[in-house]
Amino acid sequence: MKLQQILFSQGFGTRRQCDALLASGAVQVAGEVLRDGNAELATDGLMLTVNGVPWPFHERAYVMLHKPAGYECSQQPKHWPAVYELLPAPLRTRPTKSSVNGVQAVGRLDQDTTGLLILSDDGQFIHRMASPKHHVPKVYEVTTKHALDGAQIAALCAGVVLNDDPQPVAALHCERLGAARIALTLTEGKYHQVKRMLAAVGNRVDALHRSRIGGLALDPALAPGEWRWLTADDLVAIAR
Ligand code: URA
Repeated sequence: MKLQQILFSQGFGTRRQCDALLASGAVQVAGEVLRDGNAELATDGLMLTVNGVPWPFHERAYVMLHKPAGYECSQQPKHWPAVYELLPAPLRTRPTKSSVNGVQAVGRLDQDTTGLLILSDDGQFIHRMASPKHHVPKVYEVTTKHALDGAQIAALCAGVVLNDDPQPVAALHCERLGAARIALTLTEGKYHQVKRMLAAVGNRVDALHRSRIGGLALDPALAPGEWRWLTADDLVAIAR
């Protein structure tokens, strides 16, 4: 692929901006400054360095973010900054086939929820992961306002009725982590589902953290606000 097209595909701006980057000597491959946008490069395993920052070529972007509290998973946030602000500009601007450029969050976490958030520019992947048909299990660590009793835990697993739907929703697993802490595995993603399930059993969520999606756990090396690319193994794990 031509170097100008590579930079464009990775989100380094318009073709003209990519040319300007090249002309300024900001782009290196294997320690060599490249200025010719027409140079043909193999993209497999290609590591660019742009303004001193290493940038591995990815045809499609799949990343995990350790979402901190105080960020909205929306492109048009109302009260809090958007999670997208935590990502570098190329991930936010890379061209896509859809009308919105850049990566999109796979499902949403509330402003005050922390933990594992996946973002991608692969529309089919986002659709598959977010679709209720696929039942990808998600694990939430919940700290409750009041100590949880056995009846509440049993009810969460047996199914509770939420205020807008007569069909009960049940957790796939409920694991007690402490007097007022529980890990809930859910296969659906209804609006405010964990908070509403806890409210339905007469308790209240004080803190909510998503630790796992499918077989993929939040990388413990990521501090809140940090992100990393997903590996091929991660993409297999997430679908499990
Ligand atoms: N359930 C909630 O109530 N909030 C979240 O952010 C995720 C699941």
